[in-house]
Amino acid sequence: MAERVTTGISGLDKMLFGGIPAQSQVLLTGGPGAGKSLLSFEYLYRNAKAGNTCIFFAFEEDPKDLVENAKSAFPELTDIDEMIKSGRLIIDREAPTGELISAVGTEDDVFRFGEILAKIENLIRSTGATRVVVDSVSILGILVKDTSTYRKYMLALITNLKRLGVTSIMTMEMENPDRDKLTFRPEHFIFDGIVALYQSGGSTKRRLSAEILKIRGTKHSFTTAPYDVTSSGFRILAAEDIAPY
Ligand SMILES: Nc1ncnc2c1ncn2[C@@H]1O[C@H](COP(=O)(O)OP(=O)(O)OP(=O)(O)O)[C@@H](O)[C@H]1O
Ligand SMILES: [Mg+2]
Repeated sequence: MAERVTTGISGLDKMLFGGIPAQSQVLLTGGPGAGKSLLSFEYLYRNAKAGNTCIFFAFEEDPKDLVENAKSAFPELTDIDEMIKSGRLIIDREAPTGELISAVGTEDDVFRFGEILAKIENLIRSTGATRVVVDSVSILGILVKDTSTYRKYMLALITNLKRLGVTSIMTMEMENPDRDKLTFRPEHFIFDGIVALYQSGGSTKRRLSAEILKIRGTKHSFTTAPYDVTSSGFRILAAEDIAPY
């Protein structure tokens, strides 16, 4: 069996039958506010605590806001700053959103995309990071005008990350966060795994649930699991907790 990289989120690890197979490139998809950034942040925080070098490439939020949001969502995780200071949890600040957006639709856009991929690769090499988050790859999609160029670059990104041997989570907006309305685009098929965060039903309360849609090369849970964001991290109630396989 392939070596596993624990996410540090116990319910998710159970759904993954131990963790993400090492060197897999996993897509985390969900609607706005589903918790994609926080969950991927927690993955890196837990791995940094375990002694791994981790990089969060923040393309959507200002890195400072990202860290503040994580600290406010997870007040019990009191050593986030310590992890950052230790150099094991790196929040990349090289690609401010404004700079990215200004290249959209210009002659430069494909060039900018290539430049971003090179920066990602260089930082991973120079730090020796083994765990990576790209939040989000949706924003990279608006950088280039045509979808086929986006797909080509996404494939290049995933191939490069795999070659570098890192285990990654990449986030992507889900067009419709309802499970029954799930649709797939060609770029979904290039990932080794897909984890979906749904928001559904309830006129007074949204129901949040997580599902593993695929993980190449391993068995995994086929059951959707309710989750919430607690002061000490994500709590995902895996069916495996209730009825182990
Ligand atoms: N103190 C808190 N600070 C921020 N978010 C919190 C807090 N407590 C709970 N949350 C939950 O976390 C959600 C935001 O999570 P996150 O930013 O990871 O979502 P996202 O899926 O990345 O959203 P987006 O698509 O906008 O990037 C909020 O909608 C809220 O439900
Ligand atoms: Mg986000």
